Amino acid sequence: MKKTYTHALAALGLIGALALAGCGGGGAGSAGGAKSEKPGDLLIGVSMPTQTSERWIADGKAVEDGLKKDGYQVDLQYAGDDIPTQGQQIDQMITKGADLLVIAAIDGTALSSQLDAAAAAHIPVISYDRLIRDSKNVDFYVTFDNYKVGVQQATSLLKGLGVLDASGKETAAKGPFNVELFAGSLDDNNAHFFWNGAMDTLKPYLDKGVLTVPSGQTKIEQAAILRWQQETAQKRMEDLLTSAYSDGKKLNGVLSPFDGISRGIITALQGTGGYGTTIADGLPVVTGQDAEIGSVALIDQGVQYSTIFKDTRKLAKQAVIVSKDILDGKKPEANDTKSYDNGAKVVPSYLLQSDTVDKAQIKPLLIDSGYWTEAEVASGVAQ
Ligand code: BGC
Repeated sequence: MKKTYTHALAALGLIGALALAGCGGGGAGSAGGAKSEKPGDLLIGVSMPTQTSERWIADGKAVEDGLKKDGYQVDLQYAGDDIPTQGQQIDQMITKGADLLVIAAIDGTALSSQLDAAAAAHIPVISYDRLIRDSKNVDFYVTFDNYKVGVQQATSLLKGLGVLDASGKETAAKGPFNVELFAGSLDDNNAHFFWNGAMDTLKPYLDKGVLTVPSGQTKIEQAAILRWQQETAQKRMEDLLTSAYSDGKKLNGVLSPFDGISRGIITALQGTGGYGTTIADGLPVVTGQDAEIGSVALIDQGVQYSTIFKDTRKLAKQAVIVSKDILDGKKPEANDTKSYDNGAKVVPSYLLQSDTVDKAQIKPLLIDSGYWTEAEVASGVAQ
């Protein structure tokens, strides 16, 4: 299956001018000297981290469908959040002769040997949603504006607490509001971007004392949840309630970076008693991310305050466009060539925009766009 992609690699700047001349002098987009392959002859390996979260199931399916629609062969694999499994799956894709790899890494630093092997076999690599770190063999990155996701999460927390009004203007509320902070998995590059965006937004209010963190855990290493797991988040919230709130202090809000983590936090809060079951009854304001159906239903019921909607249909579409460009020998369009230094190089990126969804935004953003149906929101189950 594997063909020689001198042409595609030249478009990405992966081989030098001499080699380019050697392939017939064709520049990006020209046919000079390049083999013309039919999509049906080409195999694309798509490596996704896990099926425990809906978003990755939707991402995998949408990327596979989009590539197949363009005629490509696709090998889609999920790694069950197990790092060695993901490595083996990518090794197998390379052995099978994949012509391009699209990878959403579990651990952004654990795929160096796979990326070396891909480069040796002239297989271009697209980092999908999560940046693969410490390798220069990452050709392109498609993602969302991850720093801005963090800003949106923190802004939503401030609105939920009443520190900002609906339009984002400061109110007269001085607090102090008790908040706790959660971060994602430290081996996921995105977790750091979300955290930095959120903390830059919260910092002025922490400095002024409008917000306080009774646990004192304000470092990402203290707030991180390995593999973004719901159970780990629930346990950390239970521990925080025991250690920092047993004197009757009330928690007002929680910065949560992912809906699974949010549901773990909410379960812990509802379990301790004294917080009620909805925000109206006294449950703290909890943020989220991904617009998972379980959380969208909770937002609709007034239990979770908000989530960040990242339209995975758009991300998958962009990954398909970039794959096609690379395989056609064209330079993919980047809209950010500064932000994503993976430790070995700055990876050209295409960033999409995300939206905050609170109860009022469920209909316009999620239902009207066909992301979830009204029945799904009412039941909390994807159909
Ligand atoms: C993604 C988030 C997701 C998280 C947990 C991050 O890399 O960008 O959308 O919530 O992983 O799966």
